[in-house]
Amino acid sequence: MLADKDRIFTNLYGREDWRLAGAQQRGDWDGTKELIFKGRDWIVEQVKESGLRGRGGAGFPTGLKWSFMPKQSDRPTYLCVNADESEPGTCKDRDIIRNDPHKLIEGCLLASVGMGVHTCYIYIRGEFYNEAKRLQAAIDEAYDAGLIGEDACGSGWDFELYLHRGAGAYICGEETGLLESLEGRKGQPRLKPPFPAQVGLYGCPTTVNNVETIAVVPAILRRGAAWFAGIGRPRNSGTKIYCLSGHVNTPCNVEEAMSIPLRELIERQRAEILVGNGALVLLVPAAVEPIGHRPSLEILQARELRPVHPVPRGCGLGVAGHGAHGRRQCLGGGDRHAARCLARDRGSYDLRAGRRRHVASARADPPFPS
Ligand SMILES: Cc1cc2nc3c(=O)[nH]c(=O)nc-3n(C[C@H](O)[C@H](O)[C@H](O)COP(=O)(O)O)c2cc1C
Repeated sequence: MLADKDRIFTNLYGREDWRLAGAQQRGDWDGTKELIFKGRDWIVEQVKESGLRGRGGAGFPTGLKWSFMPKQSDRPTYLCVNADESEPGTCKDRDIIRNDPHKLIEGCLLASVGMGVHTCYIYIRGEFYNEAKRLQAAIDEAYDAGLIGEDACGSGWDFELYLHRGAGAYICGEETGLLESLEGRKGQPRLKPPFPAQVGLYGCPTTVNNVETIAVVPAILRRGAAWFAGIGRPRNSGTKIYCLSGHVNTPCNVEEAMSIPLRELIERQRAEILVGNGALVLLVPAAVEPIGHRPSLEILQARELRPVHPVPRGCGLGVAGHGAHGRRQCLGGGDRHAARCLARDRGSYDLRAGRRRHVASARADPPFPS
């Protein structure tokens, strides 16, 4: 199991002080200036070597994404942090924001240096009202302490960080919908290409990253790419906050190694319970609702746990990322994405051509699980 020393989010359960003083005691903002001095190329190389992939769903290699940002630009460049977290069953970014906000803020600064960016927006979903208040308080603390703003950390790097509250729309979690919303328009996705790294916020080069992606960056830079890459498996490395919900006695978030099989995740929680170890004592999974993955069904069968409804294809509950969005939401969205989800059940749909390519596999709508 993930050793305690390898945990990044040591205040995930909010037992300690989330404010600057508490964060600094946990090692945040330690030697940030020296990390900035190592320079843009070093930061991107470290993130590449760490194997970090985006934690917002698509799993795109983060260092590679950052390297798409122009080295020279006559326009401003931006980092936008995606805190829209609306996928059913996900609530990890929320815990980072409310219990470890300084990890995110420091990550914003270091990621921005890595991309040559001086302005960062955090786009937070409107429903996260209390989280937004807390994050703003943490941002204010960081400004007051000179950690961000002009001459951030005394490094000579100017860095402005703005928190922007959305109005509560699932589709604004899609990165180009997010940019539209940030610009004050209806949050509808843009056609790609051009990609945000070329034409993003206000038509300027932009990178959009998930909260967790950005919040792990300071730990990677401080502890080294090799340390992060050594956790999990090659091409799927590092730690990850998993959200356990559904048919569990105590729904919760837990940080574990990437690549951990679901069976092992659950069994390890059980082992933790036996030894009575800290936070994980809270986890007493009775059964995990299958979300379209065979392993969880096997677990259910093996353990003869109480049966739950298999989720029909196309109605999967949130494993965040492409092609795993709940049908109900797709319908609610009323957009191209909805069309795609519907088409998945009724035959493939060619978005470019705007028509259904073949309808041979058309079948009746699967029942939605009660
Ligand atoms: C419909 C839809 C909703 C999405 N919602 C979110 C979200 O709430 N949070 C998030 O980080 N990414 C979300 N994404 C993925 C983003 O578009 C984008 O890939 C991600 O923010 C990039 O960050 P990463 O590279 O750090 O993962 C969503 C994508 C789609 C298609």
